[in-house]
Amino acid sequence: MDERELRHALGAFATGITVVTTHGPDGPVGVTASSFNSVSMDPPLVLWSLSKRSASLAAFQSHRRWVINVLGESQRDISNQFARRGPDKFAGVETDDDSAGPVLRGTVATFVCDTEHEYDGGDHIILVGRVTRFVGSKAGPPLLYFRGGYREIGAVDHPFPADDDWQSWSQ
Ligand SMILES: Cc1cc2nc3c(=O)[nH]c(=O)nc-3n(C[C@H](O)[C@H](O)[C@H](O)COP(=O)(O)O)c2cc1C
Repeated sequence: MDERELRHALGAFATGITVVTTHGPDGPVGVTASSFNSVSMDPPLVLWSLSKRSASLAAFQSHRRWVINVLGESQRDISNQFARRGPDKFAGVETDDDSAGPVLRGTVATFVCDTEHEYDGGDHIILVGRVTRFVGSKAGPPLLYFRGGYREIGAVDHPFPADDDWQSWSQ
């Protein structure tokens, strides 16, 4: 099988982009991930997959609590920052504290999760998490990823729901 062609075909599936965070032994940990997806409503489960070569893997496997931060359209720099290896990924990034992991500000949704299952997924580990807390904000459209590049949602046919339809941290 031609790996380049497989990557190209997989790139036809447009996704949003998340930064998944947790607390490691040496401080906060975060990684850009487009593999996030919803799984189940009852119980509320989501999943994402992390490369076995990721420097962050041990932190996610030991803390077993993490935060899915769904990036907004204006957060490309944050996506790039968390896609690079390095100790200073959080430099200049505004966060709020949660015991599961840092909550990034200005995102379009946040899901706080406990690891429910961990599966072997070839060169990745698949993490299935139970959502314990979440918020969908009014911050606007999400950042998209398609065929190896960032995209914007363009004209939105359907307006965002009224404020009342959104959850917030305070509720
Ligand atoms: C748009 C985008 C999506 C990504 N999605 C994933 C993903 O779902 N899983 C993953 O393991 N790496 C993903 N990566 C790559 C990681 O962000 C990258 O390897 C990061 O440097 C890992 O950091 P670490 O080694 O410090 O843990 C993605 C990168 C980009 C730019």
